[in-house]
Amino acid sequence: MSDKGEFTAIVSSNRKIRQPFHRLRLEFAQEGAKAFANFKPGQFAQLDLSNAALPSPENIPQELCDAAGRQILLRRPFSFAKVNADGDRTFAELLYCVVGPATLRMTTLSSGDSISVIGPLGNGYHVPAGKKKVLLVGGGMGTAPLQHLAQALTDRDDGIAIIAFAGAKTVDGLPFEGQLDEISQQLGFSLPEFATYGIESLVATDDGSAGYHGLVTDCLLHWLENSRLRAEDLIICACGPEAMLARVAQIAGQKNIDCQVSLERRMACGIGLCQSCAVECKVPDSSETAYKMCCEHGPVFDGREVVF
Ligand SMILES: Cc1cc2nc3c(=O)[nH]c(=O)nc-3n(C[C@H](O)[C@H](O)[C@H](O)COP(=O)(O)OP(=O)(O)OC[C@H]3O[C@@H](n4cnc5c(N)ncnc54)[C@H](O)[C@@H]3O)c2cc1C
Ligand code: FES
Repeated sequence: MSDKGEFTAIVSSNRKIRQPFHRLRLEFAQEGAKAFANFKPGQFAQLDLSNAALPSPENIPQELCDAAGRQILLRRPFSFAKVNADGDRTFAELLYCVVGPATLRMTTLSSGDSISVIGPLGNGYHVPAGKKKVLLVGGGMGTAPLQHLAQALTDRDDGIAIIAFAGAKTVDGLPFEGQLDEISQQLGFSLPEFATYGIESLVATDDGSAGYHGLVTDCLLHWLENSRLRAEDLIICACGPEAMLARVAQIAGQKNIDCQVSLERRMACGIGLCQSCAVECKVPDSSETAYKMCCEHGPVFDGREVVF
């Protein structure tokens, strides 16, 4: 497997899915192609967006006007939603939400632009052989690395079954394509990003504007209570807001289901040096806790070890 490093990627496309969600496709060549061909779902990369231009003033959302002018001193961490190796080139797709100056600048990248990327970083998800069904549970932007995990598990071709749960406060917080407000409460192929791999999904919104009316964790619990599968055959892989992850880990713990959660922290170095991304973890066989670095030991942690 190739080591991590700093590579130049070329933008091959950058399109808005719908406000405020965009999809950026990067192309890596040579050593970068080798390194990113091995990018595991749940790993991340640090992008240098300091040279990207700001959008014109009329394209800057009102709520970001003040933040827009801030200098981008630090790289920003992103996972990938899809990775394809094609001969001596590797294409990586990044699903992003515009929340501040760096992601605002990201929207102006266009085909042919180059960007410096450090990666692959962190550990990624690990679905052990022998599991029969993987439950992907994502909240908001948290579904980005889960889309990549869906791709990788499908490529594994060992017959493992997969179901995706995607939640948000309202339909506007779901980072998917298509007519989302028409999604029903039923399990189906409503999310094309998962349907493309033959994976069924359940959508939940807190206000009922799409899919199940309620929290995605309630939707998960409801599904588990109607499932006849044995706990040891299941594994939950989750990514999303911390409160959602805490509840997913709690449900998994109560039902004795293996669970991996991908945590988000503000990151600076991304390689375990600056200590800015600490995660409090339980020390096995002890009442004590210890801090691990999200960028180095994570971002994916066993749901049982994190102190939420
Ligand atoms: C491992 C990892 C993977 C990520 N993958 C994705 C992804 O696939 N797509 C995506 O859109 N975003 C992803 N993010 C978040 C992304 O890094 C931030 O949205 C980005 O850095 C924001 O930069 P900005 O300058 O636009 O906004 P900033 O001004 O830096 O942030 C805007 C607001 O967003 C919040 N925020 C920003 N970064 C974080 C963070 N790391 N943790 C918690 N809150 C934060 C803060 O409240 C802040 O006020 C990921 C973060 C991590 C740690
Ligand atoms: S970001 Fe520096 S230690 Fe994690």
